[in-house]
Amino acid sequence: MLVDENWYRLFHPKVVSLVTTLNKEGKINAGTFAWLTPLSDSPPILLLAAWYESHTFKNISETKEFVVNITPKQLKKEVQICAKTFPEGVNELEEAGLSWFPSKTVKPPRVKECMAWVECVAREVVKKEEEYSFIIADVKCVEVKEECYRNFMPKKEVLLHLGGKDYSSIKV
Ligand SMILES: Cc1cc2nc3c(=O)[nH]c(=O)nc-3n(C[C@H](O)[C@H](O)[C@H](O)COP(=O)(O)O)c2cc1C
Repeated sequence: MLVDENWYRLFHPKVVSLVTTLNKEGKINAGTFAWLTPLSDSPPILLLAAWYESHTFKNISETKEFVVNITPKQLKKEVQICAKTFPEGVNELEEAGLSWFPSKTVKPPRVKECMAWVECVAREVVKKEEEYSFIIADVKCVEVKEECYRNFMPKKEVLLHLGGKDYSSIKV
């Protein structure tokens, strides 16, 4: 194969997010995700490439709603905890010592310690067994912490993923 296993790093750095969802029983789940991209600015549509065996993918398939919580540099340790595989029904936010509060348009909560919140409702869930999976979602509500952004550019350090165990951060 002419493709190095780290080829995808050419497309990094990427902003790191915690994606919050609820399972069918209403239990909170949080997973770490970096492969997100807007597909359209207007109407606002977002793509999330979530592995089909993740609880996040399962929950979104079943309940449609999720929140993308943009993480500051200071949450690197917590982000790594939320990337671990916990049994179904475990709230990773509790495991990581993070707190949450209600969203405005969807049932999954926002993470309090994050810099911005993007509330989404899935319109298409795609799963190609053993290969890839992704979710296309309508963005219903976007809010940022005033002290963290100027014109949607980070004025506090936002956590970036370079691939593997490598991270960086940026502020403008
Ligand atoms: C920085 C970072 C970024 C990640 N980005 C993604 C991603 O974009 N898509 C994905 O499927 N998994 C990604 N992962 C792996 C998930 O976090 C991991 O599978 C996690 O267990 C998912 O949680 P869940 O099962 O609670 O949904 C990433 C991990 C890290 C540390």
